[in-house]
Amino acid sequence: MKKYISVLCSFVLGMIALAAFSGCSKENPVAPELVMNPGNSPIPTSAGIMVVPSDNSMSDPNFAARAELGRHLFFDKSLSVDGSTSCGSCHEPTIGFADPRRLATSMGFEQQMGTRNAPTLTNVAYNSFLTWDGRFPSLEKHAPGPIFNSLEMGNNFSRTFSPQSDTVSSGYHSAPGGNDTSFLFKRLNGKGSDMAGIAYPRLFQAAWGTTKISLDLIAKSIACFERTIVSTNSTFDQFNTGKSGMTQSQLHGFQLFTDTKNANCIGCHSGYNFTDQQFHNNGIGIGKDSDSGRTNITKKSEDLYMFKTPSLRNVASTGPYMHDGRFTTLQQVLKNYNQGGMDPYSLNKDSKIHPLGLSDADISDIIDFLGTLSDKGFTNNTAFLSPWAN
Ligand code: HEC
Ligand code: HEC
Repeated sequence: MKKYISVLCSFVLGMIALAAFSGCSKENPVAPELVMNPGNSPIPTSAGIMVVPSDNSMSDPNFAARAELGRHLFFDKSLSVDGSTSCGSCHEPTIGFADPRRLATSMGFEQQMGTRNAPTLTNVAYNSFLTWDGRFPSLEKHAPGPIFNSLEMGNNFSRTFSPQSDTVSSGYHSAPGGNDTSFLFKRLNGKGSDMAGIAYPRLFQAAWGTTKISLDLIAKSIACFERTIVSTNSTFDQFNTGKSGMTQSQLHGFQLFTDTKNANCIGCHSGYNFTDQQFHNNGIGIGKDSDSGRTNITKKSEDLYMFKTPSLRNVASTGPYMHDGRFTTLQQVLKNYNQGGMDPYSLNKDSKIHPLGLSDADISDIIDFLGTLSDKGFTNNTAFLSPWAN
């Protein structure tokens, strides 16, 4: 029985890797300035491709120094206009880089509320599209987004009563509108007298051979750090490589998850990272912010209310769930799928979403299986933690 399951498992994984792969190259051509570069990716090549721009190669001898600078930037609150918010404020490593405050939608500087849930960054470098509507094609292009977003880190935000000096403690200001970086760079250059004695010019020198801070190098360094956020050793991976077993309940949950004739979760959550890298309407219905999803980007009516299939790696610790964080538990998520979507008339609802007739025991087995996607070595990895004292 055990052998059969493991054969089935590698077979199914092979199939889904293939499906995800061909779907990817057919419908989502990679932006021309990007090259496919598996580099020194720790993920088996069968898992898919990491998209790396040619001018930020992972094979560069300075890659480790760049990722280390990126880690400092990722957790540095001075990247926000009022010194309150770092990337890590919304993406906490010990819970798979999801929101540590467990907010449905995320909260940026001055307690401003956004309209979307902070997703996991587990294996994020393997995503062909970033954000729920997929508006960024690479980590480098994405990183300045939150830095300038007026609800997140606010560097395009200005106060008319700005104080004269631009230090974090005495107030904050930035150029109104536009993406002015001068105050941001001043704040970063002003660091170095902190307890750890960390000075950016030194980190930039080691990483890039220059002490001059630029937005381009900030984005590239953060992207290097994000490419190290890799999970390959969940309970499921150990099972799949024959290193350990799964419980009866987890195995049954896995069978239901991959049952193409019924629950067919694998119809969308496929491939190494349990995402087909496509956009779907999974029937949850229009949220309170009436977020129209992928159509914001493509302007096509057939993309209305479609969102990117999220990776399910570490999913047990990344709640609340969905683009607007409407479900706090996996039970609620499964209830949505079991009834064929909360909104049966939802426009553009995917044909794979229909009533499933799963029993309570089936649902609990699927949730047990989802728990096997947790990787303790990843969530306990101290190399991902903030280097700053607070
Ligand atoms: C205020 C909370 C907040 C802050 C601060 C923040 N993020 Fe996010 N992050 C989010 C939310 C919300 C999304 C989803 C955005 C969307 O879909 O439009 C997101 C999406 C992402 C994604 C896309 C993931 C995917 O698979 O689609 C990446 C990568 C990311 N953030 C990295 C960062 C980095 C790097 C920083 C710092 C420069 C940062 N975030 C700062 C809340 C935050
Ligand atoms: C038609 C494609 C499709 C199918 C089939 C599907 N999903 Fe999803 N899943 C999605 C999409 C798209 C989202 C995000 C939707 C949103 O936020 O609006 C999602 C979200 C989720 C989430 C939330 C993850 C997070 O980080 O917020 C979980 C958990 C999940 N699905 C599990 C499952 C399970 C279990 C099944 C099978 C019972 C399943 N899905 C079937 C497409 C699908």
